[in-house]
Amino acid sequence: MTHYSRISPEDFEGYARSEFWFPIPIDLIQYQAYFRPGDTILEVGCGWGRLWNHIVQTHKYVGLDIHEPYLEYFRETLLRGRINANIVNMSILDYSERTFDVILFPWTVIGDLSENDQRRALERCHDLLATYWTILLDNPAKETPYSESPWYAPTKFYYEDWTNEFPKLGFGFHERIQYETLTKKVREITVLKKNAI
Ligand SMILES: C[S@@+](CC[C@H](N)C(=O)[O-])C[C@H]1O[C@@H](n2cnc3c(N)ncnc32)[C@H](O)[C@@H]1O
Repeated sequence: MTHYSRISPEDFEGYARSEFWFPIPIDLIQYQAYFRPGDTILEVGCGWGRLWNHIVQTHKYVGLDIHEPYLEYFRETLLRGRINANIVNMSILDYSERTFDVILFPWTVIGDLSENDQRRALERCHDLLATYWTILLDNPAKETPYSESPWYAPTKFYYEDWTNEFPKLGFGFHERIQYETLTKKVREITVLKKNAI
């Protein structure tokens, strides 16, 4: 059982609205700066589809998640029988279908993996990434507390703790950008590319 069994899609969406809505989610505005026309986007941990209906209006999209109740809610409330939507119940650790231009780990998704699995996920994503493009990992910045729910025990991921590792994992370019949520929490986006261009 994952800890997400303790929070319904409806409750999670309510929390997301207070943190990110603008009416376009403000985290998505940061990610869109890295999308080019025609890019194919992979969202790891797509949940109940918070970002999907914005991204599919402009880009090709695949969403992965491992918590079936969120995917069910996604299918019922957003997809409404749209059977060709690319939503897959699978862990990023097992996915190898195709390559992508941008791979997105929004809202602390990478924190759901152990440190060893975070490394495996980055290795897997390196292989899934088209030649030049980008991985975006969105997490609380160091000065921002993580959620303190008793059932939530993330593996915290900070850009500065990984900077020596990124070249060893094959990323020739890395940087960090920061932004504030609607509740003034500072988040950092770790940007990784195979090559600097
Ligand atoms: C905080 S939610 C974010 C949901 C959505 N991306 C958003 O920003 O609103 C994290 C999601 O990551 C999913 N997740 C956790 N580990 C995963 C893995 N190894 N592969 C794919 N999804 C995963 C969880 O099931 C959960 O739905």
